[in-house]
Amino acid sequence: MSKTENQSRKIFEQKVIWGDFFPSLPGNYYYMFFKNYCWKVKLKVGKIIRKFVAEDGRNIIFRTPKWEDLDDFVDLINSLVDEKADIYVTEKVTRAEEAKWLQEVIAHLERDEDFFLVAEIEKKAVALAEFKIKGGDNEHPVGAIGIIVKKDYRNLGIGTEILKTLLEQAVFFGLQKMTINVFATNKRAIHVYKKVGFIETGIIPERHFRQGKIIDEIILTIKLPKLNQS
Ligand SMILES: CC(C)(COP(=O)(O)OP(=O)(O)OC[C@H]1O[C@@H](n2cnc3c(N)ncnc32)[C@H](O)[C@@H]1OP(=O)(O)O)[C@@H](O)C(=O)NCCC(=O)NCCS
Repeated sequence: MSKTENQSRKIFEQKVIWGDFFPSLPGNYYYMFFKNYCWKVKLKVGKIIRKFVAEDGRNIIFRTPKWEDLDDFVDLINSLVDEKADIYVTEKVTRAEEAKWLQEVIAHLERDEDFFLVAEIEKKAVALAEFKIKGGDNEHPVGAIGIIVKKDYRNLGIGTEILKTLLEQAVFFGLQKMTINVFATNKRAIHVYKKVGFIETGIIPERHFRQGKIIDEIILTIKLPKLNQS
């Protein structure tokens, strides 16, 4: 292989792994090259997990993230910062910061290390959720959930359905327990978490200071069933 050929393969490999080289490739494949071998690998980005109809009748697609979500994600997280939502992030992100984060997300997704879910309405990513494996051991892994829904799309049942879907996926990952941390002031979030089966298992008093108020953090936990292998 010539030097130029080698270089272009390298660039191709790097770019395609992040999904921005041929974003419209049917079936979302990328190609891995090693010596004279080439593998066609199915990407886990943009994979549709399920579809459902929101309470206002709009069709929602739940899928894994893809590179083209970048601008929607910047818009989503910054809109939550603007409204001073009860989340950890308080500073707006730049497109470059979000791109770096999204690269990591896609890499984790491809390696089945963590799981990320997007709610898409009318071709726009309006909610983002994830679970990360945060504790336990190989036999008893424990996950932690994060979830955000854009303001105009709340109270439509999206958050509830996202959580149910994440928990289903967590069972496939073999997770035995899932936790979620929430500001004690976030009554809607706490309501939704309890609705899907989480119970309060802890409290970190005076964990946050926001807009002149000291706020506790609540920890909620759910035990997950074991996947029946038979
Ligand atoms: C919390 C969040 C994920 C929930 O998602 P959602 O799509 O709005 O949730 P749903 O539409 O499925 O359900 C909302 C439920 O909360 C209830 N609710 C709304 N406001 C409420 C309040 N102030 N107190 C208690 N319950 C409330 C609704 O009645 C509904 O309950 P029901 O289905 O039993 O009638 C979403 O509101 C959000 O992203 N908020 C901002 C970011 C955030 O707080 N993320 C969580 C950080 S831990």
